[in-house]
Amino acid sequence: MNSPATPCPEPNTSPCGTGLIARARNRFWLAPMAGITHTPFRQLMDEMDAGVLISELVSTKGLRYASGKTRQMIQVHAAPGTLVGIQLFGEGAEDYIAVADQVAEAGAHFIDINLGCPVKKVIKKGCGAALMRDPAHLEKFLTHIRKHIPLPLTVKMRTGWNHRELTVRECVRAAENAGCEWVAIHGRTREQSYSGWADWDLIAEVKSAAAIPIIGNGDLRSASKAVELLETTGVDAVMIGRGALRNPWIFRQCTAENSGGKELANHLLRRYYDLLAPYFDNRLKTMFLRKMAMWLAFGYPGAAAFRRDVFQLATAHAVLETTDAFFDSVAHIPQPVFDDSEAFMMGGHG
Ligand SMILES: Cc1cc2nc3c(=O)[nH]c(=O)nc-3n(C[C@H](O)[C@H](O)[C@H](O)COP(=O)(O)O)c2cc1C
Repeated sequence: MNSPATPCPEPNTSPCGTGLIARARNRFWLAPMAGITHTPFRQLMDEMDAGVLISELVSTKGLRYASGKTRQMIQVHAAPGTLVGIQLFGEGAEDYIAVADQVAEAGAHFIDINLGCPVKKVIKKGCGAALMRDPAHLEKFLTHIRKHIPLPLTVKMRTGWNHRELTVRECVRAAENAGCEWVAIHGRTREQSYSGWADWDLIAEVKSAAAIPIIGNGDLRSASKAVELLETTGVDAVMIGRGALRNPWIFRQCTAENSGGKELANHLLRRYYDLLAPYFDNRLKTMFLRKMAMWLAFGYPGAAAFRRDVFQLATAHAVLETTDAFFDSVAHIPQPVFDDSEAFMMGGHG
């Protein structure tokens, strides 16, 4: 069992606690996002000072049966400046154990298990949020995995299956007893999917009773909100997903190391392009670049027309030329706010 989490002095953006979490760069972490937090994206967010980096969810079956594409998903970039975790999903405990050496050899610092995925295909196999329906089984499952893998184990969960089945407290205890390093909580139930708002009161309550570090997650759209909730809920760190897509400078803004700025959007896209190059073919490079350009453009005047134009461009070079022109044209406008009223990417695997 882990030693109780050491409380962090407040306000404090530095790493805290003991064990693995003490090695985090800071307390503002990148959330795992399927199709997004691949190796080059993680490297970019490392350069943007994210406190911990977590991969998209990776299939243990894909790794076990040697899919080259899946193997690529667990690659860790050279000399990471902070902890890198690989998030796995699989059917039985043996699936996780069978691939753990591969993950360790890739250079990851920890393995994260997805207990929050609401997607039917995943649930049907008893994975993702389905694992939260039976905390006693979950404890045995995690304990068995923990004993047989060479890396520290962490989990990311939701608050429960639905509002009548809020098992988060019991599941946190299961993770604690199994020897996990921390629990990240996306403050919604499986049934909520991405609707409504993350329940930070419940996250705070769970944190106050937990002897294991708790990482809060959900709807942190600005640095000020992230800092506020870190301080008011007492969580050990916060995880930011969609907010970092719209504002990749958010981690620096949270730690007040560098306020970031829109004038850097072109630089960021060019750097992303360089990082994508060794991993993906032209089609995928162009697709990933277009997506980031679109996220960065949200909220600026002319963003809709820009999005239309960018989606018709076939090469990454054409995308970069168009984005240069667009971001130069809006350079005098303050960085747009990611407003609470906006629906943005209301779906995902956790
Ligand atoms: C496109 C997308 C993909 C996601 N994929 C994953 C995933 O692979 N694993 C996971 O645990 N959570 C995944 N999530 C959930 C996020 O990690 C996070 O819990 C959720 O988006 C709420 O945080 P946010 O409001 O900061 O985005 C995904 C979310 C989105 C939007």
